[in-house]
Amino acid sequence: MCGIVCYVGPRDIKSVLIEGLKQLEYRGYDSAGIAVQNGNRIACYRAVGKIVELEKKIAGIEIIGESGIAHTRWATHGAPTEENAHPHRDGKENVYVIHNGIIENYHSLRRRLQQEGVHFRSETDTEVLAHLIALHYDGSLSEAVRKTMGQVEGTFGIAVIHRNEPGRIVVARRGSPLIIGLSDGSHFAASDVSAMVRYTNQVIHLQDNELAVLTKDDVSISTVQAVSVKRVVETVEWRGEDVELNGFPHFMLKEIYEQPNTIENAMRGRLEPAEGVPKLGGIMPVWDRLKDCRHLVIVACGTSFYAGCVGRYVFEKLTEIDVQVELASEFRYRKLNFPPNTFILALSQSGETADTLAAIKEAKRKGASLLGIVNVVGSSIARETDAGVYNHAGPEIGVASTKIFTSQLTILTLLALLLGRHQNLSLTDGIEAIRALQRIPEQINAIFAQANHIEAIAENYYRCSNWLFLGRKYNYPIAMEGALKLKEISYIHAEGYPAGEMKHGPIALVNPEMPTVAIVPQDDMYEKMISNIQEVKSRRGPVIAVATQGDAKIRELVDEVIEIPPTLSFLNPILTVIPCQLLAYYCAKFLNRDIDQPRNLAKSVTVE
Ligand code: AGP
Repeated sequence: MCGIVCYVGPRDIKSVLIEGLKQLEYRGYDSAGIAVQNGNRIACYRAVGKIVELEKKIAGIEIIGESGIAHTRWATHGAPTEENAHPHRDGKENVYVIHNGIIENYHSLRRRLQQEGVHFRSETDTEVLAHLIALHYDGSLSEAVRKTMGQVEGTFGIAVIHRNEPGRIVVARRGSPLIIGLSDGSHFAASDVSAMVRYTNQVIHLQDNELAVLTKDDVSISTVQAVSVKRVVETVEWRGEDVELNGFPHFMLKEIYEQPNTIENAMRGRLEPAEGVPKLGGIMPVWDRLKDCRHLVIVACGTSFYAGCVGRYVFEKLTEIDVQVELASEFRYRKLNFPPNTFILALSQSGETADTLAAIKEAKRKGASLLGIVNVVGSSIARETDAGVYNHAGPEIGVASTKIFTSQLTILTLLALLLGRHQNLSLTDGIEAIRALQRIPEQINAIFAQANHIEAIAENYYRCSNWLFLGRKYNYPIAMEGALKLKEISYIHAEGYPAGEMKHGPIALVNPEMPTVAIVPQDDMYEKMISNIQEVKSRRGPVIAVATQGDAKIRELVDEVIEIPPTLSFLNPILTVIPCQLLAYYCAKFLNRDIDQPRNLAKSVTVE
């Protein structure tokens, strides 16, 4: 899950490529490289590590040209070295290629090419592409790329230039995202719009097994079978400033503080308060079947999976639908049997997560209908599903997902409310739920008012190397999400657990150096949680409680309290997760971690 960006046109190519790479750095930051063509000369620079290392390397070097390609890497094949950095070239250095994805049959291709005398300089799968394209080159780069596409298995988003074809870039995709940006006298292509949104909001989403030839004046798209294709130009709702820090020290903190707005965006134009029912235009194409659906399978990965776990409890509360929640990376290999009229609901921020995409394709093959809740417009999962709802939360750049999680919870609740109101849920319950949802944004601001207090708690405990997060029912998945956030960005080992499971093992871990975060709002699980907290306290474990405002009882029992305003029990998770996000953020800050680009991670996992 690398990031690729390319440009052809009159702009300052060095800054367009470097600024584009910086916007894509959350996709991978093991090494970076650019290749710029000026007539028949191609200047190529690569560096290990973050974009800033490449910037240092080319500082003061005048790099001019009419076209160029650039890449930031998340290493899959070969260590993060300069030799393994992209762009990769053929032996004569005529072909330069950058790649996002995995060439699954690269071993056999490499062996065959070596038998034909080709010398390889890197350990990567990508280098086979450079040699194959050179081998097929007969005066047309696009034809050489087309032939090469026919030989490779796996996923790719690639961009290629050839010494003999200045001012021309050939891009192609299968499985990995590739978006073309259009503006007067200039054309861009990149893994996602954030790399070009400051220059244009007019884009084309290249489809699987398509390639495009970009010049400054034209874009021509065709299939791998050389059939010419006309694609719709879409307008992106994101703006240049959406991908800027706007004064925040990190994108993660910016995105945490965006949540009151992103939750409002998730509800905007989607509520009929007087009728106590939401309206979701995006699912109307399948409504006639969906309203009678009695079996829903939520499929996702990581944080999106935990949102699905909360969603199951909310659906069970508000509807008569039987809900399963499945980890996509397991689900795709299961023997699947679905009752008639089963709907699969994919949750994904990026809309490009390979496991989730493959899982829903598998379910479709087995006859299920597909729904999606996705943030990135036009992404692969959005296009694969029969209908769905966009988050409209803007770009999420911090690798650790925050605002999308609460947006997913909000939209899952709207969907459950809509279906419930078409089953047994009363008008009164519907109205009460919508009113409570509308109060959530301002209630989150009340939690932000405790930010200094949460920071002080983090300062007290960030040196502890093991943490436990406990919750029950709606807040059990929040315990898991809280633990994931802490692990992802602070590298502290943390476990999220259903509190009722403590006595069956994990209580053995409890000791005075292990803080426990107990998610304990005043809901129908409150008394059970109190007993679990007493079990931890009786083994002298420090407890940080996320509790309902004004809860005097909890204050006597635990070491620290972070208060959340009162709301309906099934809406508590949208509030209880906020203190967990901030605790993780501040612990990572005290540990001087790279909060927006934690080690070994990438924002969009486009490979299995
Ligand atoms: C969450 O903080 C992580 N970035 C990761 O677990 C993420 O949620 C997972 O990869 C799923 O991504 P998606 O929502 O884009 O499909």
